[in-house]
Amino acid sequence: MQLSLTQPSSWILLLLLMTNLLLWKNAASVPMCAMRNARCFTFFEDTFELAGSLSHNISIEVSELFTEFEKHYSKVPGLRDKSPTRCHTSFLPTPENKEQARHTHYEALLKSGEMILDAWESPLDDLVSELSTIKNVPDKIISKVTDIKKKIDAVQKGVNSLMSTMNGDEEKKNPAWSRLPLLQSDNEDTRIRSSYGMISCLDNDFKKVDIYLNVLKCYMLKIDNC
Ligand SMILES: *[C@@H]1O[C@H](CO)[C@@H](O)[C@H](O)[C@H]1NC(C)=O
Repeated sequence: MQLSLTQPSSWILLLLLMTNLLLWKNAASVPMCAMRNARCFTFFEDTFELAGSLSHNISIEVSELFTEFEKHYSKVPGLRDKSPTRCHTSFLPTPENKEQARHTHYEALLKSGEMILDAWESPLDDLVSELSTIKNVPDKIISKVTDIKKKIDAVQKGVNSLMSTMNGDEEKKNPAWSRLPLLQSDNEDTRIRSSYGMISCLDNDFKKVDIYLNVLKCYMLKIDNC
């Protein structure tokens, strides 16, 4: 997308992007824009760059969280029984792997990323509050999940703003999420098992978001060999 700065509408767009990037800055300390030819521009590219980098970091952190949780609660009976295919996002029509992502139109790919990010908005809040009710949950797990939540919020804001820049505002429909009854159980082992199931879904989904946003980053920034 080219921004012509002589048009007022472009200035408004630029301001909107700046506002969004300022929000992002809280989560990731990257420059707000790149200086090229002594001018500050390419917000669009920079947003893709940031989204790619941040989503990659999130996917690593979620994976670490999953391993950490699994190690800590390995003695809980039936921990691994819950199949990761039963996630609230399973039915979303999103590419399964990098090969599929590469063959998806960039707008549809960004939309797929947005769908997954939006779908986790409430469940992630539930997970954070649920974990804090489990006895002796290591601080490391709580701080990791809080940090992940913050970063996911930032990527979501960025992706939402890229989507509305491309498409204008459209109506959004998130997959239905009603708090899992298991998450509210009085039995602590049950809550640990369902938290484990959710973290495994999160792990699965954010590997996908990482793939989508980095395929997009390569495409938008015209990077070779990735
Ligand atoms: C991702 O992690 C790397 C390595 O820790 C860091 O240098 C980079 O700034 C992070 N990216 C973002 C956008 O936070």
